[in-house]
Amino acid sequence: MTVLRVDSTIQGDRSASAALADLVLAELTASRPGETVVHRHLGRDPLPAHAWATAVGAGWTAPEQRTPEQADAVALAQQLATELREADAAVLALPLYNWGVSQHVKTWIDLAIAGGAPGDRLLDGTPVVLVTTRGGGYGPGTPKEGWDHATGYLRRILGEVWGADLTVVERELTLVGVNPALDALAEPAALQKKEAEAAAAAAGRALAAR
Ligand SMILES: Cc1cc2nc3c(=O)[nH]c(=O)nc-3n(C[C@H](O)[C@H](O)[C@H](O)COP(=O)(O)O)c2cc1C
Repeated sequence: MTVLRVDSTIQGDRSASAALADLVLAELTASRPGETVVHRHLGRDPLPAHAWATAVGAGWTAPEQRTPEQADAVALAQQLATELREADAAVLALPLYNWGVSQHVKTWIDLAIAGGAPGDRLLDGTPVVLVTTRGGGYGPGTPKEGWDHATGYLRRILGEVWGADLTVVERELTLVGVNPALDALAEPAALQKKEAEAAAAAAGRALAAR
């Protein structure tokens, strides 16, 4: 089994999403130690954002007439599409930043779509665990209900556009303990952490059982 792990935190070792993805992988590799893990870190090693438009534009130019920049962009886009297509399972840690997906994640998605054929279901039937973390709370009745513009978009892309068999592990209120304005939410935050960790471990065991 080849497992694709994608991280996109920009917060290094403090990352809540990476910690949950670690739990998923730990459960998976505990029962299947020999699996190949392909790791891409979009936050630490960002993809060049300009490559997307270059790759799309190259579609109107015959391969032998492409500039070196166009050829590189097309090769990168195709590599990202191939990584997704060749994954037997995927663990994607894609947190909320500025009420949406980060530019790093958007570039990855745009390039991978450009690297496939039109309508390509790059994760067709592939078990995928999406881990997403949010500093605040977005539940029903909260002041910021409806402001999470990342999770719905990611569900659409991964589950519907790319056809993944999707499990979503979510943790909110990760900024409790960091932002004093959220101190009153310590109890629900601790509960969310515990529940997310349990969900991540269960998702890892489910991947191992596939
Ligand atoms: C630049 C930046 C922007 C952020 N924007 C938001 C936001 O719009 N809403 C939110 O709830 N949390 C926001 N956060 C908090 C993150 O969602 C939170 O730290 C989460 O745990 C990020 O995942 P990570 O710990 O894996 O990096 C932001 C954090 C950073 C560093």
